Amino acid sequence: MIFSSTKKDYADVTTLSDDDLICYCTKVDKKTIIDAIKNGNTTLKAIKESTTACTGDECAVVNPNKRCCSKEIKQLLKLGEKTMNKNVFKTGEGVKIAFTGEVQKQNILKMVENCATGSCECMTDETKEKITNMEVSGKDGEVNLNLTGDVSKEEIEAALARSKVIND
Ligand code: FES
Repeated sequence: MIFSSTKKDYADVTTLSDDDLICYCTKVDKKTIIDAIKNGNTTLKAIKESTTACTGDECAVVNPNKRCCSKEIKQLLKLGEKTMNKNVFKTGEGVKIAFTGEVQKQNILKMVENCATGSCECMTDETKEKITNMEVSGKDGEVNLNLTGDVSKEEIEAALARSKVIND
């Protein structure tokens, strides 16, 4: 779709201000989505549940793009994860994932909680069964996740590659 120069390109979220709407159906602005991501809602599903964005059905009428806002939300999720670095190491007890950069400890705690309650889909059941303990340490900007068990570095790297938190 082509917009005139006076209109913002709603497919490029970086051009939007904090108070610009992302979801026109439920009137959710960019800042609300960004705050939700920072609070650990790092999948489209979690954003829908926590903000109501992307849950409307009048997109064709109210959204300038004449479509649902999921594309913009996915862009914001990607921007949020880009600045987070992850390194996986084999340890004596299992595997350690070191998160650095734009990482909040509470988000990693939430990831672990999701994993423990079965709502995370990144690890295969086989991998999950091998892990006997998950422990988060460190502080915002420098968070370690220690996984205890007979699990390989490659399995965890594969899980990170599948993780919606990191990739969707
Ligand atoms: S614009 Fe977000 S659901 Fe319609």
